[in-house]
Amino acid sequence: MALWGGRFTKDTDASVHRFNESLSFDCRLYRQDIMGSIAHGKMLGRQGIVSVEDADAMAVGLEGILSDIESGVLEFDAQYEDIHSFVEAVLTERIGEAGKRLHTGRSRNDQVALDMKLYVRDEIDALDGLLGALLGVLLEIMEAHLDTYMPGFTHLQKAQPVTLAHHLGAYFEMFARDRGRLADARRRLNECPLGAGALAGTTYPLDREYTARELGFDRPTRNSMDSVSDRDYLAETLSALAIVAMHLSRLCEEVIIWNSNEYRFIELDDAYSTGSSIMPQKKNPDIAELARGKCGRVYGDLVSLLVTMKGLPLAYDKDMQEDKEPAFDAIDTVKDCLSLVAGMLSTAVFRKDVMARSAKQGFINATDAADYLVVRGVPFRDAHGIVGSLVLLAERRGVALDELSPEDFRAASPVFDGGIYDAISLKTCVEKRLSAGAPARARMEEAIEAYRGMLGQGKA
Ligand code: ARG
Repeated sequence: MALWGGRFTKDTDASVHRFNESLSFDCRLYRQDIMGSIAHGKMLGRQGIVSVEDADAMAVGLEGILSDIESGVLEFDAQYEDIHSFVEAVLTERIGEAGKRLHTGRSRNDQVALDMKLYVRDEIDALDGLLGALLGVLLEIMEAHLDTYMPGFTHLQKAQPVTLAHHLGAYFEMFARDRGRLADARRRLNECPLGAGALAGTTYPLDREYTARELGFDRPTRNSMDSVSDRDYLAETLSALAIVAMHLSRLCEEVIIWNSNEYRFIELDDAYSTGSSIMPQKKNPDIAELARGKCGRVYGDLVSLLVTMKGLPLAYDKDMQEDKEPAFDAIDTVKDCLSLVAGMLSTAVFRKDVMARSAKQGFINATDAADYLVVRGVPFRDAHGIVGSLVLLAERRGVALDELSPEDFRAASPVFDGGIYDAISLKTCVEKRLSAGAPARARMEEAIEAYRGMLGQGKA
């Protein structure tokens, strides 16, 4: 059943209805649609555009619809085109004439723009909470692993020693920036399009300041054509979500590597792993793999929206109905991934011993051995060559640098003395990395204190 039968002489073809309808997916906007209608109806009453009795009846009727949908008493009826038609039809069925006055001075174009903004705003708040929870999990692991030495990698080759706290701190920074990006998008979207009408405002004396305030917006939008055709906030939100998904994917890739038989840096909890139907020994990191894989669909959602919007003439075009499924999908997917990854990490066991053993191998203290010579006057380039020859020697013997004898060191350079062993111990290598942003415990303690503060203020 449509809202627009007057100028038509035929019903729409069933295939057209099926192709055109959006109720099957925009039904999830019911709460936002009803809240928007309540604000609009109240405003119509205050402005004398409808009678106070009608406005009251609308509010009561709409509240009733909301609670009936929520309790399951009222089900969405597929004969309606979209959530807007459905709610208006049920309202009219319930309160009669007054229901037919609700759409005065409004179009589905400003209505859907409003509904989506309200929905996305709510979802950004939920995402912010989930990001905060993940940051909390990371912070806890960091606090427990300030002295958990591990190799830091470049090119996935062991490079220099770091700590698990420092490594995860990099992810803390990423997810904290993600939170900031979403907060930015929220701030910019927070202008109310209601009252823009179909595209050119209306002749009724609407109070747009009032509805904007009622619905928690900072102000009404300034241009009616932009109001109904702006989907920038969706593109921004989905971009931010694509970046969150990228960060989750990178983190999960590391978890997968760390969980591999070769690394064993991490032991995933049974509750967050799955088995193989054929190989009894398997314990697979499916959650991490899926979170990594789902990044692809979030990128797809963003690209889908951007391509849909490209080339659309002002103002509203039905193409824009295609904004919803990608937006919902990206939001749902990232929310799921955030909570599952947080659960996976909080239950995982990080193997300090294995990480330290791995850090001992792979010559990640070679730079420190070179620095030892540099401090004693050897030019860095020469020191690099000397230590390179020692690495070759140790590699041939299958030992670590600090397992070479004092004679081996002195044969490579007479500048080496007994102090070299302490200088290239794992602990020294990490703890001497005291430059700002480096992994030494003292630096990480400062960072963690700052992170705690950021989390406490919800600003991380
Ligand atoms: N279902 C539509 C959408 O999502 C609602 C707006 C319809 N407006 C229109 N002029 N047909 O975009």
